[in-house]
Amino acid sequence: MLNLILFGPPGSGKGTQAQHLVEQYQLLHISTGDLLRSELKNETPLGLEAKKFIDKGELVPDEVVIGMISQQLDLNIGKVKGFIFDGFPRTKAQAEALDKLLDFKGTAITQVLALDVSEDEVVERIVNRGKTSGRSDDNNKEIIKNRFNIYLKETTAVAEHYKEFDKFTLIPGEGTIEEVLGSLQDVINHLI
Ligand code: C5P
Ligand code: MG
Repeated sequence: MLNLILFGPPGSGKGTQAQHLVEQYQLLHISTGDLLRSELKNETPLGLEAKKFIDKGELVPDEVVIGMISQQLDLNIGKVKGFIFDGFPRTKAQAEALDKLLDFKGTAITQVLALDVSEDEVVERIVNRGKTSGRSDDNNKEIIKNRFNIYLKETTAVAEHYKEFDKFTLIPGEGTIEEVLGSLQDVINHLI
């Protein structure tokens, strides 16, 4: 399987790039943010619980998101050539849990592709996205700032985790969508 983690701060283009990559490489895009927003929209117990965290730009507890990922793997393994994880793992505990879940299924993360985008640029992008995304967490500077700080505090550990296994590639993320896509394709084509 080809199992990729699209990594990077909020607003770095993970979701946009994943949409382009899934078709070309026949992968399944698993975005925990999208899954949580769908639970929220459907007002499920999980969604209502997650809302408390999302509204503040904080992280939903590890057990909750790991459970969602586990369910997605159970549903889809054997049906696709691989996965693109977007917005997950966000903590070292989530990375370790993901490695275990994939190992159980006889597979593993192939590579982490990290989009390198500065704080100023991601804030500008999220503010712009907020004009149309309908996401309350994209429409408040404090929440955006908090999301970025949590990325620095909790999520950068995920990069360190995969660097230890030599599974980490940094990609320039500030070009046009096509330029960034080209850089991602260059790396992926060497992995397959
Ligand atoms: O990944 P995305 O930026 O779409 O996530 C939006 C929000 O969903 C995050 O700010 C966070 O509150 C929550 N989330 C989370 N844990 C994840 C993914 C998303 O808590 N693994
Ligand atoms: Mg996203």
